[in-house]
Amino acid sequence: ELRKRPAPIRQRLLVVANRLPVRANRKGESSWQLDMSIGGLVSALLDSCGILIEDTPDKGITEFETRWIGWAGVNVPDEIGQKSLTEALAEKRCIPVFLDEDLVNLYYNGYCNNILWPLFHYIGLPQEDRLATTRSFQSQFDAYVRANQMFADVVNEHYIEGDIVWCHDYHLMFLPKFLKEHNSTMKVGWFLHTPFPSSEIHRTLPSRSELLRAVLVADLVGFHTYDYARHFVSACTRILGLEGTPDGVEDQGKLTRVAAFPIGIDPGRFIRAIQLPQVKDHIEELKKRFSGRKIMLGVDRLDMIKGIPQKILAFEKFLEENPDWHDKVVLLQIAAPTRTNVLEYQKLTCQVHEIVGRINGRFGSLTTVPIHHLDQTLDFHGLCALYAITGFKKGSSDSKRGAAQSLGAGAILVNPWNITEVASSIAYALNMPAEEREKRHHHNFMHVTTHTSQEWAETFVSELNDTIVEAQLRIRQ
Ligand code: G6P
Repeated sequence: ELRKRPAPIRQRLLVVANRLPVRANRKGESSWQLDMSIGGLVSALLDSCGILIEDTPDKGITEFETRWIGWAGVNVPDEIGQKSLTEALAEKRCIPVFLDEDLVNLYYNGYCNNILWPLFHYIGLPQEDRLATTRSFQSQFDAYVRANQMFADVVNEHYIEGDIVWCHDYHLMFLPKFLKEHNSTMKVGWFLHTPFPSSEIHRTLPSRSELLRAVLVADLVGFHTYDYARHFVSACTRILGLEGTPDGVEDQGKLTRVAAFPIGIDPGRFIRAIQLPQVKDHIEELKKRFSGRKIMLGVDRLDMIKGIPQKILAFEKFLEENPDWHDKVVLLQIAAPTRTNVLEYQKLTCQVHEIVGRINGRFGSLTTVPIHHLDQTLDFHGLCALYAITGFKKGSSDSKRGAAQSLGAGAILVNPWNITEVASSIAYALNMPAEEREKRHHHNFMHVTTHTSQEWAETFVSELNDTIVEAQLRIRQ
């Protein structure tokens, strides 16, 4: 039964993602500290949807009033806690989904991050992990479906007729199905923030068909790149036997539109930040601290798909081959801890520490080290100061094909698996004539400032509106 409430003045957009843009920290029985969450999805949506966090101005997709539904990253078993957190989050236009610890373990650590995430990024699990995973697969999958149902229940509770519901990512592939089962007139879109793999990889998943069918219930399905959209359509044709069309996937006369929507950032947010006095001071400090050295900057979550070990091994090779550069270049690697309860991430952390220690021991001196590696999450202003002092722009690699495709002409593209090639690209970039650097930078700057996250969100949401209109027209004819 739909809620009978006065219609809002502006159409509402309900963003549903596993994680809220803030992470809650309990400070007392009913007092909460809300810190900003990290990750690509949060940054893109924060910038575009006008959710009030930190310095994010209340703008976003201006014709919509946005609410964000998701998990606050904390276990809140008691009623007082749930009530007070709900109130604290309401001020940020966020609505929590409460997941208990066991569910988080099976759904988030298990099915999402130990099964779907590696599979979608083509990272095979070691044989012994694969066997263990196969044994625990069913309980993780059941938890995944259960968690998706809980998200659907919260959406249904807050939905007002006319709202647009935008579901995000691999955590919520069952959500379109559960929402439409409850209310077939709801406008539902689903967007994936990771690659979608080749159908040959997707077919190795025991629940391959259920996931595809559940996503296909959405009105519009979006991916970062054309390749990922194509892989999804092939998976539907090969695994489900459906028909792929240039517009999407057709099942018994019903078309699910599938398309690519390349994402961007909000450049204005960065430009505003570097004008702030405290950020300017920080920039000056950093310039002094690293004066006389070129700075290479890496900012990533400490995740296996980011290629951090490959990057630092390539840097080691570069140092081996270019003794003239010792003491003249430093690699600042910010590696924000993430998914720390998942074994693969714990192993990666140890591996990275071991390599960094070896390289610093080998090429460091009593006064300097070549790699500053921080297992930390820096705040936005700290990051902006680092971006501002970095004359060396990060090369784009195959692991983020979206970025590589978009920034192709400005970036130096490398095969991240080929350490020799990456090492020589580092040398090329460091020795690049100023004129070439300016030209490349200009190209990238133009791209980033014209293809913004706001434009990405607007395109997706307006297509979602249009898709429904078309579908309704078809029915009326
Ligand atoms: C990637 C995923 C996002 C996720 C983010 C952070 O960007 O596509 O869905 O939110 O990583 O990961 P976490 O597990 O901390 O939410």
